[in-house]
Amino acid sequence: MSNDLDDKIAIVVGASSGMGRATAASLAAAGTTVVAAARREAALEELQSDAQANGHQLEICRIDTTVREDVERLIQQVADRHGRVDLLVYATGTNIPDRSLDVLTPDTWEMMLATNLTGAFLCTRAVVPVMRQGGGGLIVYLSTGAVQMPDVSGVAYQASKHGLSGLAHGTRVEEKANGIRTTIIFPGLCKTEILDKRPVPTPQEVLAQALEPQDVADAVLFVANLPPRAIVPELQLFPSRL
Ligand SMILES: NC(=O)c1ccc[n+]([C@@H]2O[C@H](COP(=O)([O-])OP(=O)(O)OC[C@H]3O[C@@H](n4cnc5c(N)ncnc54)[C@H](OP(=O)(O)O)[C@@H]3O)[C@@H](O)[C@H]2O)c1
Repeated sequence: MSNDLDDKIAIVVGASSGMGRATAASLAAAGTTVVAAARREAALEELQSDAQANGHQLEICRIDTTVREDVERLIQQVADRHGRVDLLVYATGTNIPDRSLDVLTPDTWEMMLATNLTGAFLCTRAVVPVMRQGGGGLIVYLSTGAVQMPDVSGVAYQASKHGLSGLAHGTRVEEKANGIRTTIIFPGLCKTEILDKRPVPTPQEVLAQALEPQDVADAVLFVANLPPRAIVPELQLFPSRL
């Protein structure tokens, strides 16, 4: 390991299930001090007891990323307790069954943008000053392969994920002099709870070829392991057979 993950403080937002959960658990297993955040407290507590049973360091914090005060409280608490934040992973994301343009409403559009994009902005805005003070850091955003290959995941979902690219790249360019790097990961189909929100169930034979959450966690750890002189601005991770 070139970047000594066992010496780092990481926040994973959207850590109660799927890719975020796998990432939080993997970072903790690598020795990183992890703060896992999401809305579902019971799921976070389960993640924490699994980690503790394996002797890993993992703290939890209940937040809704669409609520500015929640995000600011999370980052402040971590900064106060640990003195710095080295890594923030924005794994939060959602979708809705009523996703096609003919059934999407202004309210559901707003909810999608708030969760997938504005929440990432709020986290970035809160964590950047802490990272600057610590001499740098890495922010990893989970996007979707639908950015490269438009699909039927919905216009609000795709618009929010395209917006995430602007946030990731703009932050990287503005903050590179402060040692802050960003990576945006574009995963393809992955077996997680978000698929339960599809209007039509995903066929079992397709699911059988999908990524596992651990594959995405491994990609995050690969990026987080790189030394500060190196950066992966974008990383595409697709199931090889789909
Ligand atoms: N699975 C796929 O096929 C796939 C493919 C490409 C990209 N992605 C993206 O990958 C990322 C991770 O999703 P996943 O597939 O792992 O799905 P998931 O298991 O549903 O995880 C989504 C996470 O986001 C959290 N979240 C949702 N709304 C939130 C809010 N308002 N505040 C705080 N946390 C919130 C959820 O926690 P709570 O509900 O507890 O708050 C959960 O931990 C998402 O950005 C998704 O768009 C998924």
